[in-house]
Amino acid sequence: MKKITIAIDGYSSTGKSTLAKQLAKELGYVYIDTGAMYRAVTFFAMQKGLITADYFDEQGLVNALDQIHLEFQYNGLRGFAEIHLNQKNVEEAIRTLEVSRLVSQIAQLSEVRKKLVEQQQGFGRSKGVVMDGRDIGTVVFPDAELKIFMTASPEIRAKRRFDELVAKGQAVTYDEVFQNVVERDRIDTTRKDSPLVKAADAIEFDNSSVDRETQFLQITALAYEVLNRQ
Ligand code: DC
Repeated sequence: MKKITIAIDGYSSTGKSTLAKQLAKELGYVYIDTGAMYRAVTFFAMQKGLITADYFDEQGLVNALDQIHLEFQYNGLRGFAEIHLNQKNVEEAIRTLEVSRLVSQIAQLSEVRKKLVEQQQGFGRSKGVVMDGRDIGTVVFPDAELKIFMTASPEIRAKRRFDELVAKGQAVTYDEVFQNVVERDRIDTTRKDSPLVKAADAIEFDNSSVDRETQFLQITALAYEVLNRQ
């Protein structure tokens, strides 16, 4: 069967990555979490002291971009590819609220986007990928055969993210997670370069009151429909 490209975009904490992982497994496709790439660049900038809560040396980061090497390595135990920054597995280290607070500033920089988008396009060259992010259907793969755009209310998204962080043992409050969700929405949708916007040909799913299993079944059916038309 001919392979297709599946783009899953949408707001933070709408369950994009869970859905994308399941879909990739179902179809035997490669899953790429592009948010992890922006997070890994943020983690690098934090480690180098280029960004803090009240300071950002943009030019310093741009100058250091060629020192950043990102790779995905499949972890058979977890069933998906984990992100490595300069040969170090940072899959867990990038999932903190601290990284979430800074990542949207990093993702606004055109130089950062250019580097990551090029790498993402390389990953998808032979199709057979499910990629999730903010600009996959609009910028990275405007010709993707299937585009999904996911939304849910900010309260529900914050509650999901809060539960996830607490389950990982992180000391956070619901209010700070909610503030972060709203602030990231604001920056991600209003930035100049590749803002988060639904592609004209994307299919929108609001999962505020739909459980994950039902949504997975609906979207899988859609993917098979598109595949059968190829
Ligand atoms: O999917 P995530 O929440 O892990 O993404 C983290 C941030 O990275 C998000 O707030 C905006 C940015 N991002 C982006 O600008 N473009 C993408 N394709 C993916 C993520």
